[in-house]
Amino acid sequence: MKEIQKQNFKPGNMIYPLPPVMISVSDELEKDNIITIAWAGTICTNPPMVSISVRPSRYSYQLIKKSKDFVINLTTEELVFATDYCGVKSGRDVDKFKELNLTKKKADIVKAPLIVESPVNIECKVTKCLELGSHNMFIAEVVAVHVNTDLIDKNGKFQLNQSGLVAYSHGEYFLLGKSLGKFGFSVAKDLKQNEKKDKYSKSEDKGKYSKSNDKGKYGKSNDKDKYGKPDDKDKYRKLDDKGKYSKSDDKDKYSKSDDKDKHYRNKEKDFKYGRKKENENEKKPPKYPMKKRGR
Ligand SMILES: Cc1cc2nc3c(=O)[nH]c(=O)nc-3n(C[C@H](O)[C@H](O)[C@H](O)COP(=O)(O)O)c2cc1C
Repeated sequence: MKEIQKQNFKPGNMIYPLPPVMISVSDELEKDNIITIAWAGTICTNPPMVSISVRPSRYSYQLIKKSKDFVINLTTEELVFATDYCGVKSGRDVDKFKELNLTKKKADIVKAPLIVESPVNIECKVTKCLELGSHNMFIAEVVAVHVNTDLIDKNGKFQLNQSGLVAYSHGEYFLLGKSLGKFGFSVAKDLKQNEKKDKYSKSEDKGKYSKSNDKGKYGKSNDKDKYGKPDDKDKYRKLDDKGKYSKSDDKDKYSKSDDKDKHYRNKEKDFKYGRKKENENEKKPPKYPMKKRGR
């Protein structure tokens, strides 16, 4: 097998992909704010606990310190413009809810509002703040969770992966794509041993990690039915409310097609929550390029 060469990088953050979440925070002066956070994570199942790491210089930092709560709002393709905007503009200068035309809803327990357009809102109460260095980490307990009812299918199963979730990886946003298997599939009885070996063992398959030798291996077209998954053209249209995730003028928005860029759109028309109402006639949206800096 060809030896894999490695290059040393200076120590830094390199765990990707991450969920870029929109954290809504309350302000006693009714000027609630939203900050985008990628340094967020699940840290305990029971009690359910999460963490977010925030630079003390952020406007939101003081708001969280004071209110001791926040809401984590998961982000979707439709919210990706807003997600980026909330990560480059400060609540010191703009009212992000207003600018982005996002809807607030009163939370059940915490003071911070929910962002209605997000499919999942997680109410959190801060229990600790750890001073780590550039960032301080708020450790918080989850006290309530809200999910869009149209993501619950006829059998009562929560279809989170149908909501068009977004991942953030090394400076870019991605729409989650193809499912590669369910939790525990590697030991599932219905996956035959030799199939497993062929697909996942290096020794048996020298060319596996070299793209050039085996172009189709990770390609969409060749192995779509390998695990009995349907061709997922209709992946995002399984739910009862079919129209919700598909636009009539853009039928294939969430379907796989030859046009791979469809998943990585950055055109203005795709960002539902990206503009002020009064800007709707503008040809191009304002651009907020990501600054090159540490998060
Ligand atoms: C994708 C993305 C991820 C970010 N992650 C973090 C983070 O984890 N912690 C942090 O302090 N700032 C993070 N930022 C930067 C803040 O969101 C940004 O400075 C924001 O403008 C602060 O808003 P505020 O001043 O209204 O609080 C991130 C920005 C982006 C675009």
